[in-house]
Amino acid sequence: MSFSILGTGMYVPPKVVTNDDISKLVDTNDEWIVQRVGVKQRHISTNETAADMGTKAALAALENSGVKKEEIDLILAASVSGESISPSVSCMIQNKLGLSCMTMDINAACSAFVFLLETAAGFFARKKVKKVLVIGTERLSRIVDWEDRGTCVIFGDGAGAVVLGEGDNYLDAVFHVQGGDNVIDIPQFIGKSPFFELEQKKPYIHMRGQDTFKFAVNAICKESKYLLKQNNLTFDDIKYVVPHQANQRIIDFASVMLKVPKEKFYVNIDRFGNTSSASIPIALDELNRQGKLEKGDLLLLPAFGGGLASAACIVRW
Ligand code: UT7
Repeated sequence: MSFSILGTGMYVPPKVVTNDDISKLVDTNDEWIVQRVGVKQRHISTNETAADMGTKAALAALENSGVKKEEIDLILAASVSGESISPSVSCMIQNKLGLSCMTMDINAACSAFVFLLETAAGFFARKKVKKVLVIGTERLSRIVDWEDRGTCVIFGDGAGAVVLGEGDNYLDAVFHVQGGDNVIDIPQFIGKSPFFELEQKKPYIHMRGQDTFKFAVNAICKESKYLLKQNNLTFDDIKYVVPHQANQRIIDFASVMLKVPKEKFYVNIDRFGNTSSASIPIALDELNRQGKLEKGDLLLLPAFGGGLASAACIVRW
């Protein structure tokens, strides 16, 4: 046994920041950002934490699923931009929901949603849980260097969530980790130890854009093909590919290399930017609420990012 997705939810903060707004902060322009990244606007938090947004997405997913919050046995959450190292984001969401179930965070940056689903599948397989909340939530605006035009134009804030129940609809997943900090690095504040001698790197998102780009296209293509083959499936069997929304051009490249029509890839990066662990559950919620999914549809979810970590899974709706 694995699980079925019973409901989805999302939340983005009300403030919309356009490319023109960002061009007042750094030397950039709408044309460059739209052409190179595909982002037209992003939502940015002015007064909500990652846990606040995650809680709102969770409540929306609970409502969509018809599951009462008291039925939840486990909360799994991910965030690279939570306000505290401890309590974890999942602890804070549990607190805000007024629950007392077990909670756990997983750090796998932009790939985290698939890592969370795999972890949930393990709990279901061991029959330890009946209902699980899975949440990706990010206030990336907190850890973006707003003076670095190479990164600040890409990211946005928001949260996505799913409610899982017992079922057989998580078909398979593949994971790949190539650990290292030279391509993407989000260092913590180094502290004030009078004894530590290493230099402080600014505690913001550092990213070698082109290396990340190549890694991302390769990860989507290699892992998707591998996973489909392992399950005797082809792209024809997949209703939608719902990739991590990192860059429109990454998705376009993958579509060309895989010879899969663009229309099969769900894309919303133009409206939300890259919301890291939240991007796939936000996209799932949009597909769900737009009525684009029918029972039995197969979805392929490829994700990639900091770690470097990448993953892909197949879910039956
Ligand atoms: O979710 C985590 C995973 N992250 C990603 O997947 C991000 C992957 N990478 C990317 O999305 C792209 O590499 C970026 C959007 C980050 C950068 O695009 P690029 O086409 O790789 O640009 P580049 O870094 O090669 O820079 C090209 C030029 C440079 O100018 P010169 O040296 O050619 O004069 C940059 O300084 O573009 C310049 N540039 C900008 N110009 C206007 C870089 N950022 C900007 C900007 N506005 N915001």
